[in-house]
Amino acid sequence: MPGSPVIPAHVYLLPHNNSELERLNVQHQYLKKFVYDGKLIYDDEVTEKLRREGGRVLDNGTGTVAWAQELSQEVPKSVEIHGIDISPQNFPNKSNLTDNTFLHLGSVTELPAEWSDHFDLVNQRYLIVALLAPQWHTCASEILRVLKPGGCVQFVEREPGYVTPAEYGPAATWQEDVFEELYKMKGFNRRCALDLPATLEKAGFVDIRSERKLTPIGSRYGEGGEMGVIAYGGAMRNMGYAAIQSGLVASEEEFEERSSELHQEWEEEGAQIACRIVCARKPLVQ
Ligand SMILES: C[S@@+](CC[C@H](N)C(=O)[O-])C[C@H]1O[C@@H](n2cnc3c(N)ncnc32)[C@H](O)[C@@H]1O
Repeated sequence: MPGSPVIPAHVYLLPHNNSELERLNVQHQYLKKFVYDGKLIYDDEVTEKLRREGGRVLDNGTGTVAWAQELSQEVPKSVEIHGIDISPQNFPNKSNLTDNTFLHLGSVTELPAEWSDHFDLVNQRYLIVALLAPQWHTCASEILRVLKPGGCVQFVEREPGYVTPAEYGPAATWQEDVFEELYKMKGFNRRCALDLPATLEKAGFVDIRSERKLTPIGSRYGEGGEMGVIAYGGAMRNMGYAAIQSGLVASEEEFEERSSELHQEWEEEGAQIACRIVCARKPLVQ
């Protein structure tokens, strides 16, 4: 269409390697504890309905399939659990999947045509460096399409910046500046967590709720804070190549040095990152 933005098919900024696979699996347990209040499905009514009536669940951008696999152990076999991702590289072997888990290759911006009115719940987490700003609208419309009337969606995304006891240290300031610029250059929306309620409302969702959850970083917060170092420090490290390639950081040595300084600040001061868990429902009648 003339005038439409040209959107490259996949712009994902993180690698699909072993270090990322391990990081995502730690991050899954970390988010479950600090963002989902120890659960996989935030809204208890949705869990109860799935247990009572069965149904279908979709995990968008499923990655290592950690969330979907754990859910498959907690709901009856009558609940089908589907995961979709642009890459199968972090998928477990088929033999390790439960019988009611099904994996698909594809993009959340163009879900299979036959999935209209198909799912009771869609879970989508951490696509902040996967979707270009305008793609959030496409993705919200696609989720609305594939949900059954009355079906629910839950998103988890992080807010930009840190919550710190005092002012940011020099390394945190450096990191914020580099990533703010990198996201801008690449066309991502660093504020997607905050924009989600409006995006969902525009797509046609109702009963939209956004809750802010603080996630700890640094050993002063105990084991949870150490998981935070792995989750957030690892993501930063795995995006280092992109920061260097884009010219925002001079060299690998500079990136490593600044990352160690940031870890030192996290150890000394501690920090928290605010995440948003955003839940919404497809209206019964559209
Ligand atoms: C940061 S990981 C998060 C994985 C998982 N949601 C979790 O929380 O553990 C993002 C995942 O989204 C996938 N991804 C990126 N762009 C995508 C797209 N357009 N459609 C589907 N998956 C996508 C990546 O391949 C990666 O596995």
